[in-house]
Amino acid sequence: MPDDDAPRELTPEALDAGTDDPGRIQAAGEGSKSPAIETVSIDAPQFQVAAAHPRRMERSVALMFTIGLLGFAGFGAAYWQNARNVFLGLTLGVGFLGLGAGFVAWGKYLMPRGPFSESRHALGPTPEEKEKFVEDFASRGKVSVERRGFLVKLLGAASAVFAIVAAFPLLRSLGPLPKKLFYKTAWRKGSYLVTSDGRRVHVDDVETGGILVVFPDHDWDPALSQTMLVRVGQAGENIVTEKGRENWGPEGYLAFSRVCTHAGCPVALYQKATQQLLCPCHQSLFDIGPGVAALPVFGPAPRPLPQLPLEVDSQGYLRARNGYDQPVGPGFWERGGTT
Ligand code: FES
Repeated sequence: MPDDDAPRELTPEALDAGTDDPGRIQAAGEGSKSPAIETVSIDAPQFQVAAAHPRRMERSVALMFTIGLLGFAGFGAAYWQNARNVFLGLTLGVGFLGLGAGFVAWGKYLMPRGPFSESRHALGPTPEEKEKFVEDFASRGKVSVERRGFLVKLLGAASAVFAIVAAFPLLRSLGPLPKKLFYKTAWRKGSYLVTSDGRRVHVDDVETGGILVVFPDHDWDPALSQTMLVRVGQAGENIVTEKGRENWGPEGYLAFSRVCTHAGCPVALYQKATQQLLCPCHQSLFDIGPGVAALPVFGPAPRPLPQLPLEVDSQGYLRARNGYDQPVGPGFWERGGTT
Protein backbone atom coordinates (compact mmCIF):
# COMPACT_ATOMS: atom_id res chain seq x y z
CA MET A 1 0.00 0.00 0.00
CA PRO A 2 1.56 3.36 -1.00
CA ASP A 3 2.50 5.67 1.83
CA ASP A 4 0.86 9.10 1.18
CA ASP A 5 3.11 10.84 3.67
CA ALA A 6 6.33 9.54 2.15
CA PRO A 7 8.26 12.23 0.21
CA ARG A 8 7.69 11.94 -3.49
CA GLU A 9 10.59 11.93 -5.80
CA LEU A 10 10.25 14.58 -8.50
CA THR A 11 12.02 13.64 -11.68
CA PRO A 12 12.18 15.55 -14.96
CA GLU A 13 10.08 12.83 -16.49
CA ALA A 14 7.39 13.31 -13.90
CA LEU A 15 7.37 17.05 -14.43
CA ASP A 16 7.27 16.63 -18.22
CA ALA A 17 4.05 14.70 -17.80
CA GLY A 18 2.01 17.92 -17.42
CA THR A 19 -1.16 18.24 -15.38
CA ASP A 20 -4.87 17.66 -15.48
CA ASP A 21 -5.66 20.99 -13.89
CA PRO A 22 -7.44 23.18 -16.51
CA GLY A 23 -6.00 26.24 -14.83
CA ARG A 24 -2.46 25.19 -15.58
CA ILE A 25 -0.60 25.42 -18.83
CA GLN A 26 2.59 23.70 -19.76
CA ALA A 27 5.22 26.17 -20.82
CA ALA A 28 8.04 23.92 -21.91
CA GLY A 29 8.10 23.25 -25.61
CA GLU A 30 7.51 19.91 -27.11
CA GLY A 31 10.60 17.78 -27.00
CA SER A 32 12.28 20.24 -24.71
CA LYS A 33 14.94 18.87 -22.40
CA SER A 34 13.83 21.30 -19.69
CA PRO A 35 11.49 20.20 -16.96
CA ALA A 36 7.88 21.17 -17.52
CA ILE A 37 7.01 24.62 -16.20
CA GLU A 38 3.50 25.00 -14.99
CA THR A 39 1.91 28.36 -14.62
CA VAL A 40 -1.60 29.39 -13.86
CA SER A 41 -3.67 31.11 -16.50
CA ILE A 42 -5.16 34.43 -15.43
CA ASP A 43 -8.54 33.01 -16.37
CA ALA A 44 -8.18 30.23 -13.83
CA PRO A 45 -10.50 30.24 -10.82
CA GLN A 46 -7.58 31.07 -8.56
CA PHE A 47 -7.38 34.49 -10.18
CA GLN A 48 -10.98 35.35 -9.49
CA VAL A 49 -11.49 37.77 -6.63
CA ALA A 50 -13.14 36.65 -3.43
CA ALA A 51 -15.81 39.34 -3.44
CA ALA A 52 -19.22 38.19 -4.62
CA HIS A 53 -19.84 41.70 -6.00
CA PRO A 54 -16.47 43.21 -6.94
CA ARG A 55 -17.92 46.55 -8.03
CA ARG A 56 -19.73 46.97 -4.77
CA MET A 57 -16.57 46.03 -2.90
CA GLU A 58 -14.56 48.55 -4.92
CA ARG A 59 -16.95 51.26 -3.85
CA SER A 60 -16.62 50.17 -0.24
CA VAL A 61 -12.83 50.29 -0.40
CA ALA A 62 -13.03 53.69 -2.08
CA LEU A 63 -15.23 54.88 0.77
CA MET A 64 -12.70 53.64 3.33
CA PHE A 65 -9.80 55.39 1.58
CA THR A 66 -11.89 58.56 1.36
CA ILE A 67 -12.59 58.40 5.09
CA GLY A 68 -8.84 57.94 5.67
CA LEU A 69 -8.08 60.90 3.44
CA LEU A 70 -10.59 63.11 5.25
CA GLY A 71 -9.22 61.96 8.61
CA PHE A 72 -5.67 63.00 7.69
CA ALA A 73 -6.90 66.29 6.26
CA GLY A 74 -8.88 66.88 9.44
CA PHE A 75 -5.80 66.13 11.51
CA GLY A 76 -3.86 68.72 9.51
CA ALA A 77 -6.56 71.34 10.02
CA ALA A 78 -6.89 70.54 13.74
CA TYR A 79 -3.16 70.77 14.25
CA TRP A 80 -3.03 74.04 12.36
CA GLN A 81 -5.77 75.47 14.57
CA ASN A 82 -4.10 74.30 17.79
CA ALA A 83 -7.11 72.10 18.53
CA ARG A 84 -7.27 70.02 21.68
CA ASN A 85 -5.42 66.72 21.80
CA VAL A 86 -8.64 64.77 21.70
CA PHE A 87 -9.40 66.15 18.22
CA LEU A 88 -5.87 65.48 17.04
CA GLY A 89 -6.14 61.88 18.24
CA LEU A 90 -9.59 61.38 16.78
CA THR A 91 -8.78 62.72 13.34
CA LEU A 92 -5.49 60.85 13.11
CA GLY A 93 -7.21 57.68 14.32
CA VAL A 94 -9.94 58.01 11.71
CA GLY A 95 -7.28 58.57 9.04
CA PHE A 96 -5.35 55.43 9.92
CA LEU A 97 -8.51 53.42 10.46
CA GLY A 98 -9.91 54.32 7.04
CA LEU A 99 -6.63 53.64 5.29
CA GLY A 100 -6.03 50.37 7.14
CA ALA A 101 -9.56 49.08 6.62
CA GLY A 102 -9.29 49.89 2.92
CA PHE A 103 -6.03 47.95 2.65
CA VAL A 104 -7.46 44.94 4.42
CA ALA A 105 -10.65 44.89 2.36
CA TRP A 106 -8.74 45.32 -0.87
CA GLY A 107 -6.36 42.50 -0.03
CA LYS A 108 -9.07 40.17 1.21
CA TYR A 109 -11.77 40.67 -1.38
CA LEU A 110 -10.28 42.24 -4.50
CA MET A 111 -7.06 40.30 -4.94
CA PRO A 112 -6.89 36.86 -6.65
CA ARG A 113 -7.98 34.40 -4.04
CA GLY A 114 -5.58 31.56 -4.98
CA PRO A 115 -4.31 29.20 -3.79
CA PHE A 116 -1.35 28.98 -6.10
CA SER A 117 0.86 25.99 -6.19
CA GLU A 118 3.93 25.18 -8.16
CA SER A 119 5.61 21.89 -8.86
CA ARG A 120 9.05 21.72 -7.45
CA HIS A 121 11.88 20.93 -9.72
CA ALA A 122 15.57 21.61 -9.98
CA LEU A 123 16.49 25.04 -8.65
CA GLY A 124 17.82 27.63 -11.02
CA PRO A 125 15.57 28.97 -13.78
CA THR A 126 16.16 28.43 -17.44
CA PRO A 127 15.94 31.40 -19.82
CA GLU A 128 12.43 30.24 -20.78
CA GLU A 129 11.38 30.22 -17.16
CA LYS A 130 12.71 33.71 -16.61
CA GLU A 131 10.89 34.98 -19.65
CA LYS A 132 7.69 33.32 -18.57
CA PHE A 133 8.04 34.70 -15.08
CA VAL A 134 8.34 38.24 -16.41
CA GLU A 135 5.23 37.76 -18.54
CA ASP A 136 3.28 36.32 -15.66
CA PHE A 137 4.40 39.02 -13.30
CA ALA A 138 3.23 41.70 -15.70
CA SER A 139 -0.13 40.07 -16.36
CA ARG A 140 -0.80 39.41 -12.67
CA GLY A 141 0.15 42.97 -11.86
CA LYS A 142 -2.50 44.10 -14.30
CA VAL A 143 -5.07 41.98 -12.57
CA SER A 144 -4.13 43.35 -9.13
CA VAL A 145 -3.41 46.96 -9.85
CA GLU A 146 -4.27 48.21 -13.30
CA ARG A 147 -7.85 47.04 -13.12
CA ARG A 148 -8.19 49.06 -9.89
CA GLY A 149 -6.78 52.29 -11.23
CA PHE A 150 -9.32 54.39 -9.39
CA LEU A 151 -8.44 52.79 -6.06
CA VAL A 152 -4.74 53.24 -6.72
CA LYS A 153 -5.30 56.94 -7.34
CA LEU A 154 -7.39 57.31 -4.23
CA LEU A 155 -4.80 55.43 -2.20
CA GLY A 156 -2.12 57.72 -3.62
CA ALA A 157 -4.17 60.79 -2.67
CA ALA A 158 -4.69 59.56 0.91
CA SER A 159 -1.00 58.76 1.26
CA ALA A 160 -0.04 62.17 -0.16
CA VAL A 161 -2.32 63.99 2.28
CA PHE A 162 -0.86 61.98 5.14
CA ALA A 163 2.69 62.76 4.01
CA ILE A 164 1.88 66.47 3.92
CA VAL A 165 0.16 66.65 7.30
CA ALA A 166 2.91 64.49 8.83
CA ALA A 167 5.24 67.40 8.13
CA PHE A 168 2.98 69.84 10.01
CA PRO A 169 4.35 69.07 13.48
CA LEU A 170 7.86 69.69 12.23
CA LEU A 171 6.95 73.11 10.92
CA ARG A 172 4.21 74.33 13.23
CA SER A 173 5.80 73.15 16.46
CA LEU A 174 8.58 75.61 15.83
CA GLY A 175 6.02 78.34 16.53
CA PRO A 176 4.95 81.24 14.34
CA LEU A 177 7.52 82.91 12.16
CA PRO A 178 8.80 86.11 13.75
CA LYS A 179 8.70 87.83 10.36
CA LYS A 180 9.51 91.52 10.92
CA LEU A 181 8.51 91.43 14.59
CA PHE A 182 12.02 91.95 15.93
CA TYR A 183 12.72 94.75 13.51
CA LYS A 184 9.77 96.90 14.49
CA THR A 185 8.43 98.59 17.57
CA ALA A 186 5.05 100.21 18.05
CA TRP A 187 6.49 103.72 17.85
CA ARG A 188 5.22 105.71 14.88
CA LYS A 189 5.39 109.28 13.73
CA GLY A 190 3.20 111.33 16.11
CA SER A 191 2.88 108.65 18.85
CA TYR A 192 2.24 110.27 22.24
CA LEU A 193 4.62 109.28 25.01
CA VAL A 194 2.54 107.76 27.83
CA THR A 195 3.41 106.32 31.21
CA SER A 196 2.56 102.74 32.23
CA ASP A 197 -0.85 103.97 33.46
CA GLY A 198 -1.61 105.52 30.06
CA ARG A 199 -1.08 109.16 31.02
CA ARG A 200 0.41 111.42 28.35
CA VAL A 201 3.72 112.99 29.23
CA HIS A 202 3.74 116.78 29.28
CA VAL A 203 6.90 118.76 28.77
CA ASP A 204 6.70 120.04 32.38
CA ASP A 205 6.34 116.59 33.93
CA VAL A 206 10.02 115.76 34.40
CA GLU A 207 12.64 117.93 36.02
CA THR A 208 16.23 118.14 34.80
CA GLY A 209 18.00 114.94 35.84
CA GLY A 210 14.72 113.03 36.05
CA ILE A 211 13.72 109.92 34.13
CA LEU A 212 10.48 108.25 33.10
CA VAL A 213 9.68 104.93 31.43
CA VAL A 214 7.34 105.59 28.52
CA PHE A 215 5.41 103.68 25.86
CA PRO A 216 3.58 104.63 22.65
CA ASP A 217 -0.02 105.62 23.43
CA HIS A 218 -1.77 103.58 20.71
CA ASP A 219 -0.11 100.25 21.40
CA TRP A 220 1.10 99.51 24.87
CA ASP A 221 3.90 97.12 23.99
CA PRO A 222 6.20 96.69 26.98
CA ALA A 223 8.52 94.15 25.40
CA LEU A 224 10.02 96.05 22.50
CA SER A 225 8.69 99.60 22.74
CA GLN A 226 9.66 100.42 26.32
CA THR A 227 11.66 103.61 26.24
CA MET A 228 13.70 105.57 28.75
CA LEU A 229 12.86 109.28 28.73
CA VAL A 230 15.59 111.39 30.34
CA ARG A 231 15.66 115.10 30.86
CA VAL A 232 19.34 115.93 30.61
CA GLY A 233 18.98 119.65 29.86
CA GLN A 234 16.94 122.72 30.78
CA ALA A 235 13.66 123.91 29.30
CA GLY A 236 14.27 125.52 25.91
CA GLU A 237 17.53 123.58 25.43
CA ASN A 238 17.85 121.47 22.28
CA ILE A 239 20.08 118.40 22.83
CA VAL A 240 21.92 117.12 19.76
CA THR A 241 23.49 113.74 20.35
CA GLU A 242 25.06 113.35 16.92
CA LYS A 243 25.01 114.69 13.38
CA GLY A 244 21.66 114.09 11.68
CA ARG A 245 19.74 114.22 14.99
CA GLU A 246 19.60 118.01 15.31
CA ASN A 247 15.92 118.14 16.27
CA TRP A 248 15.57 114.84 18.19
CA GLY A 249 16.05 116.26 21.72
CA PRO A 250 13.73 119.24 22.34
CA GLU A 251 13.35 120.99 25.71
CA GLY A 252 16.30 119.09 27.23
CA TYR A 253 14.70 115.66 26.66
CA LEU A 254 16.31 112.56 25.20
CA ALA A 255 14.67 109.18 24.71
CA PHE A 256 16.42 105.84 24.21
CA SER A 257 15.27 102.28 23.86
CA ARG A 258 15.16 100.60 27.24
CA VAL A 259 16.05 97.19 25.79
CA CYS A 260 19.74 96.62 26.40
CA THR A 261 21.76 95.87 23.28
CA HIS A 262 23.66 93.16 25.14
CA ALA A 263 21.05 90.61 26.19
CA GLY A 264 17.80 92.57 26.26
CA CYS A 265 17.49 93.46 29.96
CA PRO A 266 15.74 96.74 30.79
CA VAL A 267 18.17 99.61 31.12
CA ALA A 268 16.74 100.80 34.40
CA LEU A 269 19.06 103.31 36.07
CA TYR A 270 20.28 106.82 35.33
CA GLN A 271 23.24 108.48 37.00
CA LYS A 272 22.60 112.19 36.84
CA ALA A 273 26.10 113.24 37.86
CA THR A 274 27.83 111.34 35.03
CA GLN A 275 24.89 111.39 32.59
CA GLN A 276 25.01 107.65 32.13
CA LEU A 277 22.38 105.00 31.72
CA LEU A 278 23.11 101.71 33.49
CA CYS A 279 21.91 98.21 32.67
CA PRO A 280 21.86 96.27 35.95
CA CYS A 281 22.17 92.84 34.36
CA HIS A 282 25.86 93.00 33.41
CA GLN A 283 26.63 96.62 34.29
CA SER A 284 26.80 98.08 30.81
CA LEU A 285 27.13 101.86 30.95
CA PHE A 286 25.90 104.17 28.19
CA ASP A 287 26.94 107.82 27.94
CA ILE A 288 24.15 110.20 26.95
CA GLY A 289 23.97 113.95 26.49
CA PRO A 290 25.14 116.51 23.96
CA GLY A 291 27.39 114.78 21.43
CA VAL A 292 26.89 111.27 22.80
CA ALA A 293 24.01 109.03 21.74
CA ALA A 294 23.97 106.28 24.38
CA LEU A 295 27.43 105.10 23.54
CA PRO A 296 28.45 102.01 25.55
CA VAL A 297 31.54 102.91 27.58
CA PHE A 298 31.64 99.92 29.93
CA GLY A 299 30.34 96.37 30.04
CA PRO A 300 29.41 93.87 27.35
CA ALA A 301 26.86 95.92 25.38
CA PRO A 302 28.19 95.98 21.80
CA ARG A 303 26.37 99.02 20.38
CA PRO A 304 24.56 102.20 21.43
CA LEU A 305 20.94 102.20 22.53
CA PRO A 306 18.72 103.33 19.62
CA GLN A 307 17.44 106.90 20.09
CA LEU A 308 13.79 107.86 19.67
CA PRO A 309 13.35 111.26 17.93
CA LEU A 310 11.09 113.56 19.99
CA GLU A 311 9.03 116.68 19.41
CA VAL A 312 6.72 118.79 21.55
CA ASP A 313 3.27 119.52 20.16
CA SER A 314 1.34 122.77 20.43
CA GLN A 315 -0.22 121.68 23.73
CA GLY A 316 3.12 120.83 25.27
CA TYR A 317 2.86 117.03 25.03
CA LEU A 318 5.87 114.98 24.06
CA ARG A 319 5.45 112.93 20.92
CA ALA A 320 7.62 110.74 18.72
CA ARG A 321 8.90 112.58 15.67
CA ASN A 322 9.23 109.14 14.12
CA GLY A 323 9.80 105.49 15.08
CA TYR A 324 13.23 104.06 15.87
CA ASP A 325 15.49 104.14 12.85
CA GLN A 326 17.02 100.74 13.69
CA PRO A 327 16.06 97.51 15.48
CA VAL A 328 16.11 97.67 19.25
CA GLY A 329 17.68 95.14 21.60
CA PRO A 330 20.46 92.60 21.00
CA GLY A 331 21.79 92.97 17.48
CA PHE A 332 21.73 89.44 16.04
CA TRP A 333 20.04 90.73 12.89
CA GLU A 334 21.42 92.70 9.99
CA ARG A 335 21.61 96.32 10.98
CA GLY A 336 19.98 99.10 9.05
CA GLY A 337 16.26 98.19 9.25
CA THR A 338 13.66 100.84 9.96
CA THR A 339 10.84 100.94 12.44
FE1 FES B 1 22.48 94.74 29.70
FE2 FES B 1 23.87 92.51 29.76
S1 FES B 1 21.78 92.77 29.34
S2 FES B 1 24.50 94.49 30.15
